[in-house]
Amino acid sequence: MSAKIKLNAANTGAVINRNIYGHFSEHLGRCIYGGLFVGEDSPIPNKNGMRTDVVEALRNIRVPVLRWPGGCFADEYHWEDGIGPKESRKRMVNTNWGGVVEDNSFGTHEFLELCEQLGCEPYINANVGSGTVREMAEWVEYLNSEGDSTVVKKRWANGRKDPWNVKYLGVGNESWGCGGNMRPEYYADEFRRYSTFCRNYGTNKLYRIACGPNAGDWAWTETLMKNAAAFCDAITLHYYTVPTGEWEDKGSATEFDSEMYYATLRGTTRMEKLLEGHLAIMDKYDPKHKVGLIVDEWGTWYNVEPGTNPGFLYQQNTMRDAMVAAINLNLFNSHADRVVMANIAQTVNVLQSVILTDGDQMLLTPTYHVFDLYKAHQDATLVPVTVACDTVEGVQQVTASASIKEGVLTVTAANVAADKAEKVVLDIAGFDVKDVSIRILSGDMHDKNTFEDKERVTIADFTDFEVTGEGVVLNLPGCSVVEVTVRG
Ligand code: AHR
Repeated sequence: MSAKIKLNAANTGAVINRNIYGHFSEHLGRCIYGGLFVGEDSPIPNKNGMRTDVVEALRNIRVPVLRWPGGCFADEYHWEDGIGPKESRKRMVNTNWGGVVEDNSFGTHEFLELCEQLGCEPYINANVGSGTVREMAEWVEYLNSEGDSTVVKKRWANGRKDPWNVKYLGVGNESWGCGGNMRPEYYADEFRRYSTFCRNYGTNKLYRIACGPNAGDWAWTETLMKNAAAFCDAITLHYYTVPTGEWEDKGSATEFDSEMYYATLRGTTRMEKLLEGHLAIMDKYDPKHKVGLIVDEWGTWYNVEPGTNPGFLYQQNTMRDAMVAAINLNLFNSHADRVVMANIAQTVNVLQSVILTDGDQMLLTPTYHVFDLYKAHQDATLVPVTVACDTVEGVQQVTASASIKEGVLTVTAANVAADKAEKVVLDIAGFDVKDVSIRILSGDMHDKNTFEDKERVTIADFTDFEVTGEGVVLNLPGCSVVEVTVRG
C-alpha cells in the first residue's frame, strides 16, 4: 500500500521548543579539543581559539543550546581549575575518557565565548558527585552575579565585566551511575540541597534541571518526581541506541547487514515508549505540567572506529544514523508539549556527531544534514500528523512530523525502509497549497562522508512529486529523509 501522512493545518499543538535541536559537548576524546577548540595559536583558522569552520557549520543548523562540560566528566569537573591564566591552570587526568591529560585550557570563559559565537544558549551541567554545594553555588555566582563580591571580582580580573546570565543549570549528571551511584531518594534530597543554594541573580532566573532516569528506570522517575518535582524545572532522560543491545560489543558503525540496520531502528523507536512511560509518571506528580522533560543524551553508540582510542568514543556516521536522527526528532516534535529540550550526543567527533574533524579537515555527517532539514521546526507550532503505512522488519516504514510558522508549513518525513521506495501522499487540510518545494537526503544505508569523499551524502533538491487532488504525492526512495516546504 502507499503511505499517507494526514494533517489539518488549522489544528495546531504546542510550540516546538527550539532547544529540541540542542547539542552536547563533553571533555571527551576530540569533541572539545581539536573539534570545537584549537586554541588561538593554532594554524587552524580560529576566532579566539574556536574553529571557524566548525562554528560556521553549527551556526548554519542554528544550534539553539549547548550542554557542557559533561556527561560523566561533569561530576569530576571543578570549575575553578578552568579559569585564570592558562599557564597556571590545573592539569588533571581525564579518568573517565581515555586517561589523557586535561589541561583545562577550555573552561568557563571559553565555553561561554563559544556559545556567543554560535549564538546559542549555554547549558551548564554542574558537579554533584565529587563537588560541594559551595563550589556549585559559587560557580553560579561567578557566572551570573553583578555584586561586588570576591567571587565576582575574580571574574572581572579574568576579563569579563558583565554577568553571562546563564539560565540552564544541570545539577549532577547520571547520578544513578558515573555521577555517584546514588539511590533516587538520596539524589532527590541532594538535588534539593544543591539547588537551594544556587541563587537567581538580577533578573536571571535559573532553570534548574534534575538528573532523571536512565532509559526505562521508571522507579527513578517515580521517586525523583515524588520528592523533588516542586524544586525543579525539568528532569532529564538518557537513552542511547545500541544496535546489538550489548555494551561489550555494540556493533560496527559502518559494517552492518540489513538485519542489524533494522535492529538499530527498532532499538531507537523505543524512545517513544520511554517518553510516554516517563511522562505518564511525571503527570501523576505534576498534573499541571510545570516540569519539562529534557532528553539531554541520545543517539547511536557503536564500537569505536578501529585503531582509535577506545576512551574517545569516535565513530563514523552513515545513512543509518540519519534514519535514527529523523525518527527521534519526529518523536520529540510530536511530544513538544512536554519535551522542552534534547541534546544529541555529541556535537563533534564523539558518538553520533554532526561533524567530524581530522586536523584542519572537517566534514558534515548524514546526521548533520537531518538537523539542517529539520531546522524550520525550531519555534514553529506543531501540526499533529497521523501516518498510515506499512511496517518493515518491525519498524514503521514512514515517520513524519509537521509544523507551521509565519504561514509556512513544514513537513519532515523519512522512509526508513532500506531500499524500498514508497508512494507517500501528504493529505493537507486547512491550508491553501500554492507552492511546494522539497529537499532530500538519500542514499544506501551504508553511505557516509569521509575525508576523501566529503560530499557523498548531501542534501539535494527533490522534484519527484506532484500536487494532485489527493495532496502532495511523493515517490520517496528507501533510506531517505525529506523536508517539504509548503507555502499558501
Ligand atoms: O556521552 C557519553 C557518556 O554517556 C556521558 O559522559 C555519560 O553521561 C553517558 O553515560
